[in-house]
Amino acid sequence: MKKTILVTGGLGYIGSHTVIELIENGYEVVIVDSLVNSKLEVLNRLETITGVRPTFYEYDVRDEEGMEKIFSNHDIFAVIHFAGLKSVGESVQKPQLYYDNNIGSTEVLLKKMKEHGVHNIVFSSSATVYGQPERMPLYETDPIGNVTNPYAETKVKIEEMLEEISKNDPEFNPVILRYFNPIGAHKSGLIGEDPNGIPNNLMPYITQVAVGKLPMLSVFGNDYPTPDGTCIRDYIHVVDLAHGHLLALKKLEEKPGRVIYNLGTGVGTSVLELINAFMEANHVNIPYKIVGRRPGDLPQSYANADKAFREMGFKTKYTIVDSCRDSWNWQKKNPKGFDK
Ligand code: NAD
Ligand code: UFG
Repeated sequence: MKKTILVTGGLGYIGSHTVIELIENGYEVVIVDSLVNSKLEVLNRLETITGVRPTFYEYDVRDEEGMEKIFSNHDIFAVIHFAGLKSVGESVQKPQLYYDNNIGSTEVLLKKMKEHGVHNIVFSSSATVYGQPERMPLYETDPIGNVTNPYAETKVKIEEMLEEISKNDPEFNPVILRYFNPIGAHKSGLIGEDPNGIPNNLMPYITQVAVGKLPMLSVFGNDYPTPDGTCIRDYIHVVDLAHGHLLALKKLEEKPGRVIYNLGTGVGTSVLELINAFMEANHVNIPYKIVGRRPGDLPQSYANADKAFREMGFKTKYTIVDSCRDSWNWQKKNPKGFDK
């Protein structure tokens, strides 16, 4: 019999790519998403790509009655918990919204899991939990906390909640995945990253300049202590990241208790290197100007991803050039995102 996976936030950027991996690997998928940062059109696209229309519930995960229905209707093997708000800047403006949405939804989810005897959860954490690290690369054993924005606080808090529960419940298996910087899109170009308004993140900004929606990219600082002076990040193709979730579900078969993995490539790329890779891969020009630093940016952030390889066999397949090609393929085919 097929195992059922409840995917919270499954119509979002990383969730939708993961849903494809799950369906293609024989899982039954149930999605719950409030559509606060996604479009129903994603469900049609998922059906076009996989030939399967996943069961979908339009609820906020904080809605206890809604979640009760889902847990009563389905025999869930594991939850993959993507649902959450993710804009660092917005979280500084509206901290309460972030605490309520991200922590509140996780509280309801964990309560319903306990009531229904569901012990397995894969949680979307972030490299942001490492705060202001003293050295690179980042290891899972490095200290977390000492973070500077409410978004990051919610990730640290949820990791702590999962730790507390696992201390008291030996049956509980939380797999915590700390993502680095996902970019790229499914090769079909039918799904991809579709931020609301002006993008905060580098790759969607680049693709919107490439498509003519935005006139010019601003590079936030070229006076960092890095070889070309711009910040270094660990960009990972979203399909590689999605594959990591499949491996996490396999890991759950071992009843591992609480485990934590970095999901990155282990390789850092600077802002200028990414812009150049995009221009070369796609033969398009990206006009840019150097401006001042963006407050809060770390000079460098990249993973040591050996643990995920050792314990789950996680290896990335796609290069930066692949990511640039796939991000552009998505944006070119969908200049207005999912709004056609
Ligand atoms: P996304 O915004 O595209 O997807 C999140 C989805 O969750 C959206 O479809 C949104 O509508 C839904 N959602 C939010 N709050 C909800 C709620 N209370 N109830 C139901 N649905 C809700 O974001 P993404 O990039 O796919 O990120 C997925 C997860 O990974 C998030 O938890 C994010 O914090 C984490 N993460 C993302 C990145 C990144 O750079 N994209 C990096 C590290 C961690
Ligand atoms: N950048 C620019 N111009 C832009 C946008 C970004 O120069 O228009 C630069 C930033 O200054 C940074 C790099 O590109 O040096 C990457 O910036 P992103 O905003 O794409 O990514 P971050 O590493 O800052 O943040 C991401 C997620 C956060 C998460 C963090 C750590 O957006 O939610 O990774 O996981 F907290």
